[in-house]
Amino acid sequence: MQIFTKKTELQDYLKKWFAGNTIGFVPTMGALHAGHLSLIEQSKKKCGVTVCSIFVNPIQFNDPADLAKYPRPIEHDIELLEKAGCDILYNPDVNDVYDGEPSIIQIDLGGLEKVFESKQRPGHFDGVVSVVKKLFDAVKPTDVFFGQKDYQQTLVVRKMIRYYNMPIKFYTCPILREADGLAMSSRNARLTAEEREQAINIYKALKEAALKQGLYTPTQVEEYMYTELQKNSFMEIEYASIVDPTDLKPIIDWQHSAVILVAVKVPSTRLIDNVLL
Ligand code: PAF
Repeated sequence: MQIFTKKTELQDYLKKWFAGNTIGFVPTMGALHAGHLSLIEQSKKKCGVTVCSIFVNPIQFNDPADLAKYPRPIEHDIELLEKAGCDILYNPDVNDVYDGEPSIIQIDLGGLEKVFESKQRPGHFDGVVSVVKKLFDAVKPTDVFFGQKDYQQTLVVRKMIRYYNMPIKFYTCPILREADGLAMSSRNARLTAEEREQAINIYKALKEAALKQGLYTPTQVEEYMYTELQKNSFMEIEYASIVDPTDLKPIIDWQHSAVILVAVKVPSTRLIDNVLL
């Protein structure tokens, strides 16, 4: 695997060796797990060359403690990417990504900037849009691969691609789970043993809620999820909602498809998960 810290060198290399190829891109913040590697696998299946980026983007963290605690096991990440057969790693610093200090790009997110993650993490998606735009401009991918776990992020990035009319195919790849159902996440490493045990209940509540589709109203199922999650004494529920998967607006019946979104604090770590119905 070739590793670049400068986008100009990455671009020269891609031009020289992969001109005319489809370029698959998997942007990450590192601390890679099997979920990320499944995105690399998808990219390798579909594209001529696969680029992964590892960059912990400071301007998408609304909580400085979260940024400070974010794991950065770069040597281990490189090993995992090598084993997964990734062709290129772009591992830049802030200066290379932003051509200086980070700058915020704001685009019309059509309401996505007001709900769920946007409400809980003010400014988060402005930071995501800013960095993803810079990374797409640097890598110039034809295809990009994002995990369904950050469901709202997939909608935001799709919106950004449309907004800038970028000739990029967007793939949402399924959530990978631990054997007990917990959605894989770089933040899981921070859970205490007790929190880890409680965290299983998130997917349990989601699965049970999914089974109630059609039997009760969406509001009743949301109430059921709250009750189930609240049984876990130290879990703070931020949201547990059933909404339209295209715009995250509330649904009143089961006529259309739906997504169940959950975010909780356990309390050392914030965890999110979702299930598409
Ligand atoms: O999902 C992530 O890891 C990040 O939000 C992303 C897309 C790499 C942007 O920093």
